[in-house]
Amino acid sequence: EKGGFEHFMIKEIFEQPKAIRDTLSCRVADDGKSVKFDELNWSPEDVNSIGKIMITACGTAYHAGLLAKYFIEKLARIPVEVDIASEYRYRDPLTDSKTLCIIISQSGETIDTLAALKEAKRRGARSLAITNVVGSSISREADQVVYTWAGPEIAVASTKAYTTQLVALLLLALYMGRLNGQLSAEKETEILQDLQKVPEQCQYIFDHADDVKQLAEKFKNKEDVFFIGRSMDYGLAMEGALKLKEISYIHAEAYAGGELKHGTLALIVDGVPVIALATQRDVEEKMISNIKEVKARNAQVVGVVQDDDTEVAKTVDYIIKIPKSDNFVMPVMTVIPLQLLAYYAAVVRGNDVDKPRNLAKSVTVE
Ligand code: BG6
Repeated sequence: EKGGFEHFMIKEIFEQPKAIRDTLSCRVADDGKSVKFDELNWSPEDVNSIGKIMITACGTAYHAGLLAKYFIEKLARIPVEVDIASEYRYRDPLTDSKTLCIIISQSGETIDTLAALKEAKRRGARSLAITNVVGSSISREADQVVYTWAGPEIAVASTKAYTTQLVALLLLALYMGRLNGQLSAEKETEILQDLQKVPEQCQYIFDHADDVKQLAEKFKNKEDVFFIGRSMDYGLAMEGALKLKEISYIHAEAYAGGELKHGTLALIVDGVPVIALATQRDVEEKMISNIKEVKARNAQVVGVVQDDDTEVAKTVDYIIKIPKSDNFVMPVMTVIPLQLLAYYAAVVRGNDVDKPRNLAKSVTVE
């Protein structure tokens, strides 16, 4: 059932091109140029009536929500708040009938997330679930559902569910931006065409998986790893750090590139690995300054960059290249080497990769 792979996690990492294609294909118009959501069928008024969006989720799904804030605010100019589900419920949130609550959950069964959805509904919000399981509790509770078509995800550490959540959320941002007039048809087509290239472009990352494996071997006895990034790469840094912690049990922390100097730089000492995500071109120069700050303290820096980068490569010790794409599309591919790093680190440390200690695939207790 693992299809020749040693673990479900690595099988699921390699299934991402198909999962992404399946999630995309039913939401692209026949000419390949615009987004359609038959399951939503919104009018411009449906979007214009949204005062703000609340995204609520747990774990990896929460990290997808962090990126969705960038997608939706930049492309559709609607304010977005992102909350951890178990926090949302108890903070007397500003949610009313002008709020669209987006609930993200792979399993559709996470009790904290389900409770947050019920709370949002109680306060009069409209609700939309992004989930991978047809007929799940969350899909039944929400007003509308957008399914990710990732297929069953068995490994506890989420991989293909996360990338398909990113795809669904980016499509949704494009859809809303077009409906409320914030996004031009040209920009929509540009991003959508880049998104459609992703399944094929993933092959390049898989072809270089051995480079990531070597890094995992090099770092296997480290006690701390830092992930840094700016803008969307900051959200990804959080997911990269979580993945590493969950299955390799190496302590990892994510920091916004610009925030290091406000404290954490004290922890960057000789030999500490820093995974520097620098795929976002608009903040590349700033990231290079942050990389220099950690290099000056003798960190071992892995730069993760677009494949035509020349500048970051000059400042780092190791480089991981990601096929070039639109800024909004980059995260969908950039996370893959981070998943691979966590996977190989867990394997070389002899851990139970698919069933890491103390974690469950879906948590149905509060
Ligand atoms: C956690 C899982 O308990 O639940 C994580 O270990 C997962 O991997 C999180 O991201 C949320 O799960 P779901 O199914 O609601 O997306």
